[in-house]
Amino acid sequence: MTIAIGCDHAGIELKREILSLLNELRINYIDFGTDTSTSVDYPDFGEKVSDAISSGKIEKGILICGTGIGMSIVANKFPGVRASLCNDLFTAKMSRLHNDANILVMGGRIIGKDLAREIVKTWVSTPFEGDRHCRRLEKIQKIEERLVKNDI
Ligand code: RB5
Repeated sequence: MTIAIGCDHAGIELKREILSLLNELRINYIDFGTDTSTSVDYPDFGEKVSDAISSGKIEKGILICGTGIGMSIVANKFPGVRASLCNDLFTAKMSRLHNDANILVMGGRIIGKDLAREIVKTWVSTPFEGDRHCRRLEKIQKIEERLVKNDI
């Protein structure tokens, strides 16, 4: 598995921690920035990661901003992206089991490093349950298709 990862200035410290975790877990990643704590705009980095997932180039992504809200809003604009804001372990697990989330979003100003590490470990190791949840994801896909066609 390869993970596309990105953050803004408010997520840089937590992203560094997650990059070391991914190295420890020997999970490949592509880091789309930002690389410093200089103030940037989260949509620019959310777009890069979400494009990689939406186009199918990369299977999964991680986005981090201050609260996780801005990155979630950006990511969920992209067709095929199911971004889940998970600042706790239960949500992280359920977002994979029921929603087949393909982008994990966290708030760098909300959670500590240890919790974030556990969230990532849970998220990358939990499979999609399938079954009745497939039908629900198909409905989301149909909504996307209708909106893209602008066919109300
Ligand atoms: C940046 O100050 C902050 O607004 C951003 O990281 C994020 O929390 C937005 O939702």
